[in-house]
Order: sequence, then structure tokens, then C-alpha cells
Amino acid sequence: MAAKNRIEISIENLNLDYHIRRKKGDAGSTSLHALDNINLSVREGEFLSVVGPSGCGKSTLLYILAGLQKKTSGVVKIGDAEITGPSLHTGIIMQAYALFPWRTIKKNVEFGLEVKGLSKAKRSEIAAEYIELVGLSEFSDRYPYELSGGMKQRIAIARALAYDPDVLLMDEPFAAVDEQTRSLLHEELLRIWEATNKTIVFVTHSIEEAIFLSDRVAVMTHSPGQIREIIDIDLKRPREASIKSGEEFSKYRKHVWQLLQTIGDSTVETFDDKGRFVLDSQPQEVAI
Ligand SMILES: Nc1ncnc2c1ncn2[C@@H]1O[C@H](COP(=O)(O)OP(=O)(O)OP(=O)(O)O)[C@@H](O)[C@H]1O
Ligand SMILES: [Mg+2]
Repeated sequence: MAAKNRIEISIENLNLDYHIRRKKGDAGSTSLHALDNINLSVREGEFLSVVGPSGCGKSTLLYILAGLQKKTSGVVKIGDAEITGPSLHTGIIMQAYALFPWRTIKKNVEFGLEVKGLSKAKRSEIAAEYIELVGLSEFSDRYPYELSGGMKQRIAIARALAYDPDVLLMDEPFAAVDEQTRSLLHEELLRIWEATNKTIVFVTHSIEEAIFLSDRVAVMTHSPGQIREIIDIDLKRPREASIKSGEEFSKYRKHVWQLLQTIGDSTVETFDDKGRFVLDSQPQEVAI
């Protein structure tokens, strides 16, 4: 989006070491330096994606922002406040559809509203609004097991949005859905983002997904994770799937791909220099 407002998330000199306890009987513990001097600011209403090799610390970064993981050093703020623990200012959406299986769709979406202490009538009204926003009103009284993967993920988005957090953190939310559903969810997510003006930090292994959705893409290095480069994605909005075959889009794709190549990542969806899709280092012809 154009004219960005104030800084919503600020990360300064962030380091994270995991302390790993040795097996029973062994003395002491080892530590793993997972994040190395991360500096990043995200503006209010911005859509920022993070790509990088498996194990480079992307989920760790999101957990710190969600207040679920304590940092080792540095300053991490949402708005003006340092993060000290989980908060209703942030919503996190995980890759595994983390819905409560014993609750109906409506009751899942009401969860954060219960934590907020809203009345039954108000909870019901807000839940209905967000379930409608993700187009699943007719499934309100059903249970998660009755929904497809893509539908569950839409409900996870509705649940996170319903309690009105300022920041949405998304960890590979569409990795488990098929390509066509993923494409629909992209357009839906952008529509919701434009309607609600949330700040989004989105982790993905897909270069294409990152470019299509984002205002900026942060590329991380191998563990210990550092930010290698942050790329402005200057593609006009609203964006439609057809832009992916455009010249400008290819330019960004190539740039991110080259960055990841130089850090030796083989885990992301990539394109070789002939524009062929490469997965697990096996080039396959696809129309792009
Ligand atoms: N709770 C933990 N205790 C110890 N080490 C951990 C813990 N969680 C993650 N790690 C290690 O920290 C590093 C970063 O892990 P993280 O899950 O953040 O990577 P990632 O970039 O999200 O990877 P992927 O793309 O595979 O999801 C890895 O080396 C991982 O083994
Ligand atoms: Mg991860």
C-alpha cells in the first residue's frame, strides 16, 4: 500500500540462542544461535513476507513477535511497547490448522472474544461477521473435521481477525493446500488485508507467494538467521493472479531466487535461469 504510517513492529539487534539440554546423565547444556542481530521495522498496514532456508529461524522470529518465545538480547516492540508475552494485539496463524476440534466453527472464532470478556451476544455477532468475511457462514455450526484444509485455514484467519489484533503473524499458512486453493486464498487474504488494514508478517517457502502478496520481502540467510536483503515490491495493487506472468514479476522472482541461490537454499520453490520451475533440484517444465 502507498503512504505507510507509523512503525508498528520494530526489531533492533535481536539475538536468540536456544538452550538445548543434553540427555539425562550428561553434564551441562549446549546452545544454538538461531537468530543473529536481526534489525527490521514493519509499518502499520504493511504486508511483509519473510523467506529463507529451512531452519534459518523464520518461525522463531514469529514466535518472538507473538510473545511465545523469549529473546536472548535486543529490543522488540509492537507499537510503543516491548513484547513481554502473548497479547491480544497480535494474532498468529500456523501452518497446521490449529483449530480446537471439540468446538464448532463459530465457537472456534469466538475463542479470542471470550478471552477478551465480551458478552455472548456480542461474541456471536462478531464471529458471524468474520465467518462471513471468509465466506463460510453456512459452516458455522459444523466442526473442524468436516472442513477441507483450505476452509480450516480460512477459519483460522477469521479467528485471528475476530478479536481485532493490530498485527497478524502467519507461518506458512497455505503450505498444505493445493495450488488452486492457494491462489484463491491469496486473493482472499489480500482482499481482507485491504479491508482491515492489518499489519502482516508472512513466512513462506514460496518466492512467488511472497512477491505476489507483499509490499516488501525480507530474505534471510542460513542459520544463524540474519536478514540478507529487504526488497521493495513495487507492483501496483489490487493484484490479480495474471501479474505473475508479467515481466516485472519475473524480475523480482529472479532477484529473490538469485539471493537464495547464493546462500545455498534448496528448500524453496525456485525457477532456473530458463524460467523452469525447480523443486528438489529437479527442473520441470511449467508454463509461467
Ligand atoms: N524449541 C527449540 N529448541 C531448540 N532449538 C530449536 C527450537 N526451535 C527451533 N530450534 C532450532 O532453531 C533453528 C531455527 O528454527 P525455526 O523453526 O525457527 O526455523 P524455520 O526457518 O522456521 O525453518 P522451516 O522453514 O523448516 O520451518 C533450527 O536450527 C531449529 O532446529
Ligand atoms: Mg518454520
